[in-house]
Amino acid sequence: MHKPGNVLMVCLGNICRSPIAQGVFENMSKNFKISVDSAGIANYHIGDAPDRRSINVSKTNGIDISTQKARQIRTNDFKNFDYIFVMDNQNFSVVKKLALNNKTNSIIQLLNDPFEIEDPYYGDDKGFEIVYDKIYQGCKRVLNNWK
Ligand code: 4NP
Repeated sequence: MHKPGNVLMVCLGNICRSPIAQGVFENMSKNFKISVDSAGIANYHIGDAPDRRSINVSKTNGIDISTQKARQIRTNDFKNFDYIFVMDNQNFSVVKKLALNNKTNSIIQLLNDPFEIEDPYYGDDKGFEIVYDKIYQGCKRVLNNWK
């Protein structure tokens, strides 16, 4: 994982974790000519804006994710993205299975490898701060590998 490439951030719903990851990575990778996007494994929230708590914690850290819209991961993602970063082990196993069906060269990894970034949906605001910090660490980890 040593050179810049297009990045897709993936979680379950694409409303809590991966929108933050997209926003943070876009912000950190401005010097690279890459595209950054996010998607969910599930279809529950297609078209929805990010969770208010994700918008708020990002805003506190100077990042506006309010205009993002949730979408589901699709076949073309395995062609268009060099890196697919997932948040937890469940995301990882689902995306790995999809990858087998789509014969991809995309590198699939936990964003904060070797740690998981757990689903904060049913938790409180503090959970979103913890998620934000783990996402930030994960994005730094990836960019440090690109130097
Ligand atoms: P995310 O969080 O995967 O970080 O977007 C979730 C959002 C919604 C649901 C689950 C996880 N849900 O079950 O609706």
